[in-house]
Amino acid sequence: MVGAPPGFIYIAGRLPHLVRPLALAYVGSRIWAVVFAKPAPRWLRVSAYLFSIPLALTCKVLYTYLRNMREAAHRRAVLAPRVKSIWPGGFDIILSVARSFRNGHIGSPFDLYCQEYGPAVNVRIMFEDRIFTTEPEHIKAILSTQFNSFEKGPVLRDQLNALLGTGVFNSDGETWKFHRSMTRPFFSKDRISHFDIFEKHAEDALNQAKARLQEGYPVDFQDMIYRFTLDSATEFLFGKSVNSLSVGLVYPQNSLQGQNKEYTSHPSNVFARALSDAQSLAALRGRLGTFWRLADFWSDRVEKEMKVCYKFIDPILKEALELKRSMKEDPTVIRDEIVNILIAARDTTASTLTFLVYMLSQHPDVLERLYAEVLSTVGCSRRPTYDDVREMKYMRAVINETLRLYAPVPFNVRTSIEAAVWPGVNGGPPIYIPPKTRTPYSVFLMHRRTDLWGPDGWLILFTAEQSLRFIKL
Ligand code: HEM
Repeated sequence: MVGAPPGFIYIAGRLPHLVRPLALAYVGSRIWAVVFAKPAPRWLRVSAYLFSIPLALTCKVLYTYLRNMREAAHRRAVLAPRVKSIWPGGFDIILSVARSFRNGHIGSPFDLYCQEYGPAVNVRIMFEDRIFTTEPEHIKAILSTQFNSFEKGPVLRDQLNALLGTGVFNSDGETWKFHRSMTRPFFSKDRISHFDIFEKHAEDALNQAKARLQEGYPVDFQDMIYRFTLDSATEFLFGKSVNSLSVGLVYPQNSLQGQNKEYTSHPSNVFARALSDAQSLAALRGRLGTFWRLADFWSDRVEKEMKVCYKFIDPILKEALELKRSMKEDPTVIRDEIVNILIAARDTTASTLTFLVYMLSQHPDVLERLYAEVLSTVGCSRRPTYDDVREMKYMRAVINETLRLYAPVPFNVRTSIEAAVWPGVNGGPPIYIPPKTRTPYSVFLMHRRTDLWGPDGWLILFTAEQSLRFIKL
């Protein structure tokens, strides 16, 4: 089936589920004919064929529910409360999730569900349970104490394969361990202390911003910071920057320069746009579950965007591999890894810096204090060292607070490999998680329950115990 349109692959995979009830209806009608020595009435045969699929589905859902209830009771646990849906298949839930993505309030339906049902809810979509949680103890179980009971799982791998291949974000078990060991050298103290790379690109970005403001145009800060992180990340990871800042900063759409075709078709812009589009399309798959193949029925749109990206990455990769002729690694494996780390590094850092600057613009008192700390630790002539960064407690607290309020990775998902039990909520009974169940979680919604940068000179820190701590710095 390699290379077949995604829609065909989906239908081929579902075919047995559709054929089985029909076959059963056929066998039933044959048995009737033998037992009663005449064919079953026409209306009965037609009804049996028509209703066999919905009936089989209802039986499966009911059987699964009863089995889960029994298994939960066996463990002195309960099932997570299920979000009530008005339409069959949870279409109203799908619509409200889609609407929240369109209007920019991505987590809002889940926020409402958690307010109504508690921090762990079963959001059933298309007859498939998804136990969504914002409870810190559950997230701890998924990522740490019950690590071996959860994986990214086959559904996520299928959704993200065209974007991430088998890279560290899209692998489990031994493959994940292998990729993890490949990425480890990037995070050694020696590598992350290469501030000169970041400084070079930061200086370039800031000089361009100053020049643009002097020209009398506003600067799109988010676009600028995306270019900065892309250039720094590619130099850090590939040893060669894609130099997206070299094209200049984006002009407002309604200005003469904003219409410049040469600008939009510059290779680094084409690459950045394709990578962003691929990520948006892959994120859409997260909402559609296994149905993404129907949305991309004839061709895989993520794959198409990634081909544009590979045109850009492959020559750089080839050059790097030629330099290291001894390397026996499969170039596709290395390429997947590069794309994984590039996405991990670029968007998270760009998002954090954008929101950080926005928050500082809204809180001049915090800006003033931060500025004073930077001046007293680093001064205004030299570059900060690794130890300076460790030393600047206020700066770290400001960054942490921005991350808490504007989490760059607000949602994530795992799938249970085997049956699991999560701790109860607010003194309630433990919650049973059936095997092979998707368990999305959100630290963003958990943290959103409180607000904001504290009174002058104070920072609110969210402690691991979920209690607020006001610290005077
Ligand atoms: C503010 C910045 C960042 C945030 C908020 C962030 C957030 C995250 C999160 C939530 C995960 C867990 C994903 C999962 O397990 O499903 C993760 C994993 C990862 N991040 Fe980051 N990240 C940031 C910066 C970076 C940077 C700069 C790099 C690389 C230079 C990076 C590389 C990675 C890698 C390789 C993993 C995969 C680890 C694994 O699966 O073992 N991240 N990050």
